[in-house]
Amino acid sequence: MLGRSKPPINGPLKTGEDLMLDFDVVVIGSGPGGYVCAIKAAQLGLKVACIEGENSLGGTCLNVGCIPSKALLHASEAYHDSIKNFSKMGIDINPPTINWPKMLDYKSTMVSQNSQGIEFLFKKNKIIRIKGWASIETTTSIRVEERLITTKNIVIATGSKPTVFQNMTPDNKVIVNSTGALSLKNIPKKMIVIGAGVIGLEMGSIFSRIGSEVTVIEYLDHIAVGMDREVSKSFQKILKKQGINFLLNNSVTEIKVNKNIATVRYEGRDKSELKTISADLVLIATGRKPYTSGLGLENVNLATNKIGQIVVNEKLQTKHSNIYAIGDVTLGPMLAHKAEDEGVAVAEQIAGQSSHINYDLVPAVVYTSPEVSSVGKTEEQLKAENQDFKVGKFSFMGNGRAKVNFSSDGFVKILVDKKTDKILGAHIIGPGAGDIIHEICVAMEFGACAEDLARTCHAHPTVSEAVKEAALACLDGAIHN
Ligand code: NAI
Repeated sequence: MLGRSKPPINGPLKTGEDLMLDFDVVVIGSGPGGYVCAIKAAQLGLKVACIEGENSLGGTCLNVGCIPSKALLHASEAYHDSIKNFSKMGIDINPPTINWPKMLDYKSTMVSQNSQGIEFLFKKNKIIRIKGWASIETTTSIRVEERLITTKNIVIATGSKPTVFQNMTPDNKVIVNSTGALSLKNIPKKMIVIGAGVIGLEMGSIFSRIGSEVTVIEYLDHIAVGMDREVSKSFQKILKKQGINFLLNNSVTEIKVNKNIATVRYEGRDKSELKTISADLVLIATGRKPYTSGLGLENVNLATNKIGQIVVNEKLQTKHSNIYAIGDVTLGPMLAHKAEDEGVAVAEQIAGQSSHINYDLVPAVVYTSPEVSSVGKTEEQLKAENQDFKVGKFSFMGNGRAKVNFSSDGFVKILVDKKTDKILGAHIIGPGAGDIIHEICVAMEFGACAEDLARTCHAHPTVSEAVKEAALACLDGAIHN
């Protein structure tokens, strides 16, 4: 396995001295929140350890989340592109075929390379990696099996786990959660996805592109909860055009497995109709919950809230000022980049610096094709707040680069204050949406107006020009729509 470098305390205990290890900061968990916090704290001159129970560093994001899913999204998109667009560009090939074991190998290689990258960064920054499951004993000590580690500060960065759906334990053959879906033995012929959230839509896209017949069952009347409704509607239309079936307004009540076939029962939200549908794979993607089991929170009298989150103040401190919680295990969206920023903020505070996170400007991205991204307020939120706003929209149909790349589905939508022209939110569905959102994030951090974006020279031909055009649409009008 990974974790080749064995720091001294990772080996068998020889003397009583090894039982006592003392640090400025001990981070529990090596996901994007935890490892970034450890590196930043070490860079600021603190003596740091990071405790991780799994063999491989990187947490959910790197091992069974963002990175492996992005590998499969990239590979499946390339496959789809080769079938759909290669001949249009004068590239004639034999019909491409999927070598599934090799695709999984590619995914695993990317995961291990990234995890080894964190090991390298730990070594470079002289961070002690402690392997094992941590249990907090007191506000200044943590037990990892027989080792007792003392520390001035504790950062809990233990992340989240998939929720258990109606007491069903995934068998990892016919019923899987997001982790199991990343390591399937075979590509399913028919796949049912329960939940049209980010995980369901990203995983559904992967398997739909490589040949599975995918049906998504969702309780709500729309997909991608929390997304601007206009974008969500357009997103669903595009995914439907790509072949994904949606059963909205339906709640799954039961899954039964017989001879490797799952039968899923679902009923309308009004409970009027009970129906069944069968498939050889069911993906449960109904959410995640904070992971705190075995952490010893009770030893320091720390309770979690109703949904299992560790409650913190604006400085990310629990009721003990030297115990912090960051990332999925605490309040806020379950996003790797939010966890990273919290990791940096906590390290800076421990080192005596001040820090601030602007939670209003945390971008969100769905890595389907096309990608979907957003920052700031949705149209629905602004209406609910009685804000006087204007909308500027630009379709990728009018963007030369998107057209050349066969990716003109989607649009950029910018919401601005009607009086001041200040940008209040932005929503993009289209090529590179996950990257081009950041110029709007920066603009919003500086309190920019649509005119600032519109007057900024954008290179031609780029998909980023669609942002400038949407900003122009907030003023006198876009040039190319
Ligand atoms: P989610 O909470 O985003 O979506 C779950 C969906 O399942 C909801 O729309 C809900 O209405 C539906 N649902 C629940 N019970 C149901 C039932 N019985 N029948 C039908 N529908 C039902 O959860 P998801 O997609 O599992 O993601 C978990 C977390 O991970 C989220 O916070 C997400 O933001 C994060 N994540 C973010 C990614 C990204 O930023 N690209 C990628 C993967 C995860």
